[in-house]
Amino acid sequence: MNRKEFIKGMGVVAGAAAFASRAKAACAASCACGAGGGAAGTLPNRVLGSGRAAMSVSTFGFGCMGLTPYKGRINITTKFGHEIVDGKATGRQTSRPDVVRRYCEESLRRLRLDSIPLFYQHRFDRDTPIEDVAGCIAGLIREGKVQRWGLCEVSADIIRRAHAVCPLTAIQSEYHLMHRLVEKNGVLDVCREQGIGFVPYSPINRGFLGGDINEYTQFDPANDNRQTLPRFQPEALRLNTRIVNVLQRFGRTRGMTSAQVALAWLLAKAPFVVPIPGTTKQAHLYENLHTLDFTLSGGDIAELERAVEAIPVIGDRYDAEQQKRVLG
Ligand SMILES: NC(=O)c1ccc[n+]([C@@H]2O[C@H](COP(=O)([O-])OP(=O)(O)OC[C@H]3O[C@@H](n4cnc5c(N)ncnc54)[C@H](OP(=O)(O)O)[C@@H]3O)[C@@H](O)[C@H]2O)c1
Repeated sequence: MNRKEFIKGMGVVAGAAAFASRAKAACAASCACGAGGGAAGTLPNRVLGSGRAAMSVSTFGFGCMGLTPYKGRINITTKFGHEIVDGKATGRQTSRPDVVRRYCEESLRRLRLDSIPLFYQHRFDRDTPIEDVAGCIAGLIREGKVQRWGLCEVSADIIRRAHAVCPLTAIQSEYHLMHRLVEKNGVLDVCREQGIGFVPYSPINRGFLGGDINEYTQFDPANDNRQTLPRFQPEALRLNTRIVNVLQRFGRTRGMTSAQVALAWLLAKAPFVVPIPGTTKQAHLYENLHTLDFTLSGGDIAELERAVEAIPVIGDRYDAEQQKRVLG
C-alpha cells in the first residue's frame, strides 16, 4: 500500500484537519502536527482539561509528523511559536501577540476552518511573558477563532501562570519509557492538580521502542531528523536495544508487541494522558490502536519500570541547540 492509499484508507485521519472542527466524534487532541481521531467514532474517549477548557478526545491521537511527503497537499497544523520569515523557519521562537494572531489567521485560512479546536504554543518564547501569550489566546477564544489552547515542553511554573490567565486544555511534551522527565519536574503533577490534559509526544520514542530500529538503520538525510539526535546515533541505538528487549520480553508473555507495551504503560499512567503515536503504516496504526485490548496492572507497571530503570539510557534526546528550546 502506498502512502496515498494509506491516507485514503484512513479516511478519518486524512480528513482530520477539516474533520476536526466539525465532526461530532472529536478529533483527538494530537493536532500540532498531529491530528487525531483514528477510529474516533469507536474508540473510548478521554478528557483533556476541565471546566470550559475541557476537550473530549479519542484515547489515542494520531501523530501526522511522519506524513510530511504530503506537504503542499495536506497541511495539518495547529501550532504557533516558530518564527517564520519569508516562508522559512529562522530557528528562533516568537509568541508575540501580533505574531500569534497572524499565525492563527493563516492557520484558519490554510486549514479552511472557522475556528481552531486546539492551538498549541510550540515552543516557549523567552522574550514574551507567558501571561501576554495567554492574554492573546484568551482574546482569540473570545472572538471564536480558537477554541482551546495548550503548551509544549514548558515548566510547571509556566503552566501555572498560563493557566491562571487562560485555562489550558493540554500540555504536550516528550514522554515515554526512555524519557520520564515530566514525572520528576512537576509537569504531570500540575496537570493532575489543575485538571489539564497531558499529550505525550513521540510516545514510542520516535519508533525506537517499536523494535524495528537498530544501529544499521539508515535515516533519510533529507527528511528524517532522527539522524541529528544523540540517542539515534549507531552506538547509542546498539546499547539502548537492551531496553527494547525488556519491552519485548515483557510483552511476549502477555501477547503484546513492544510498541503496545510502550503505549499501554503511558495509558496506565493517568486517565488524562492521550499519547499521539505517529505512523505511515496501516498495520502499525492497527497494532497501536489494539493496545486498548490490554490493561496493565499496578504490578505489571512496577515490574516493567524496574526492568527498564536497571538499564542506563545512552545518548541525550536532543542536541545542545534543540535542548535550548525546551524548558524542564
Ligand atoms: N511537540 C513537539 O515538540 C513534538 C516533537 C515530535 C513529535 N511530536 C508529535 O508527536 C507525534 C508522534 O511523534 P513521533 O513520530 O516523533 O514518534 P513516535 O510516535 O514515538 O514514533 C513514530 C515512529 O514509530 C514507528 N512506529 C509507529 N508504530 C509502530 C509500531 N507499532 N511498531 C514499530 N514502529 C512503529 C513509525 O514508523 P512507521 O511510519 O514505519 O510506522 C515512526 O517511525 C508526531 O507526529 C507529532 O505530532 C511533537
